[in-house]
Amino acid sequence: MRSRSSFARRFIAGETVEEAIAAARAVETAGCFQTLDYLGESVATLEEADAATRAYQGVIDAISASGIGRNLSLKLTQLGLDVDRASAVDNLRKILARADGFFVRIDMESSRYTDVTLDIFELLWRQDYHQIGVVLQADLYRTEQDLRRVLNLGARVRLVKGAYKERGSIAYKKKSDVDRAYARLMKTLLIEGNYPALATHDAALIQQAKIIARDNGIAADRFEFQMLYGIRRDLQSALVKEGYRVRIYIPFGRQWFPYFTRRLGERPANVGFVLRGILGEH
Ligand code: FDA
Repeated sequence: MRSRSSFARRFIAGETVEEAIAAARAVETAGCFQTLDYLGESVATLEEADAATRAYQGVIDAISASGIGRNLSLKLTQLGLDVDRASAVDNLRKILARADGFFVRIDMESSRYTDVTLDIFELLWRQDYHQIGVVLQADLYRTEQDLRRVLNLGARVRLVKGAYKERGSIAYKKKSDVDRAYARLMKTLLIEGNYPALATHDAALIQQAKIIARDNGIAADRFEFQMLYGIRRDLQSALVKEGYRVRIYIPFGRQWFPYFTRRLGERPANVGFVLRGILGEH
């Protein structure tokens, strides 16, 4: 990555698939699993969506050749959802057709896309694409119902707090409310879900998850924790040492800016970290 983007290095594995695979190997050596995210979102033309689809197919081939774990995360707006829904679904099918032996997680974007993402997910799931999973955001009031819908399908859920700014009419705004909603959803998911992914760096929620699992006789291999590349590595390795499964979300590619901005927004201290870097440079 060029110097302008060197601050992003903390959160992004690099711009090329080779750099991402090297990061994935390091993560696996440390005892974690990984999922690769070829960064991109909100494309505005079908040509860009086609290009992203072809790029994902190349990433799949590179992962298959490398021998690392076969797990991808992607966004539907990267595949053209804003331009034409049918084309986005077509592109997703092309990726899944290439992704033999892969698990593909469809990331959840802002609330504008919740319905359409779940609808596309359900459509493909009912067409027997069972190598896919979806993401639900605890900050949205609607998620309790959405969770029921996905549990009824028997599909896999990654539970997150939610990374997008949402209106108070549809989402909890206070951190304590989001945390409480996460805890409630997590309990349902652990008890009733199909290999749930608890994606959070929140040590208190992780502690609660361990207690729920213990009290309900849920073995450590029936769910996984997930964390983002470069965040709370101490917690990642502590969980691995305790015998839990931990998957690291590894983003890479040239379109890193929106992802990077969301990570800055989550924690004011990160902005300080970037500013210190910029001031230090001059
Ligand atoms: P919270 O924000 O309360 O943070 C808890 C602690 O974690 C903090 O005190 C700090 O120590 C650390 N931390 C958290 N964020 C940090 C940061 N940016 N930098 C440094 N430290 C940080 N969202 C979404 O809307 N759709 C999606 O598809 C996904 N996918 C996804 C996958 C995975 C594997 C993860 C871990 C997260 C997502 N997210 C997501 C993002 C999620 O919604 C949420 O914004 C972040 O995980 C931050 O929330 P926490 O649960 O970590 O809690």
